[in-house]
Amino acid sequence: MFDAKELVRKAIEAKTKALPTYSNFHVGAALISKNGKIFLGANIENSSYGLTICAERTAVFSAIIEGEREFEAIAIAGDSEDYISPCGACRQVLMELCGKNLHVYMINQNGEYKQTTLDELLPYSFNKEFLT
Ligand code: THU
Repeated sequence: MFDAKELVRKAIEAKTKALPTYSNFHVGAALISKNGKIFLGANIENSSYGLTICAERTAVFSAIIEGEREFEAIAIAGDSEDYISPCGACRQVLMELCGKNLHVYMINQNGEYKQTTLDELLPYSFNKEFLT
């Protein structure tokens, strides 16, 4: 079992790596694999706004290129009063690469968090089964 509080701390730490040049909204993510490795992510913005990438996707892509394929949980830290909620694009990508049982910890600007699962965040998702 992983240490949820440690994962939350890592996501908050990852927020310092964000490059939110246009929105000034810092987001950090920490993704833990089944074998206990933690991968950090942060949002990186671009002057061509649509090329911006979210913290969740930088974390999961970084894990994938390191050879990880099985994941336990992701913690996401935002600058907002309310608990940050992953965008629709990230929900879809996390569903594809981490699966519906992924635990999701959504953290507010005070470091408090709320826990859910990807299945709760993205019910009836489109997935590779539809393509077979
Ligand atoms: N953002 C994330 O990194 N993750 C989320 O879950 C929500 C939004 C980023 C994208 C953009 O850089 C900034 O937050 C404002 O939308």
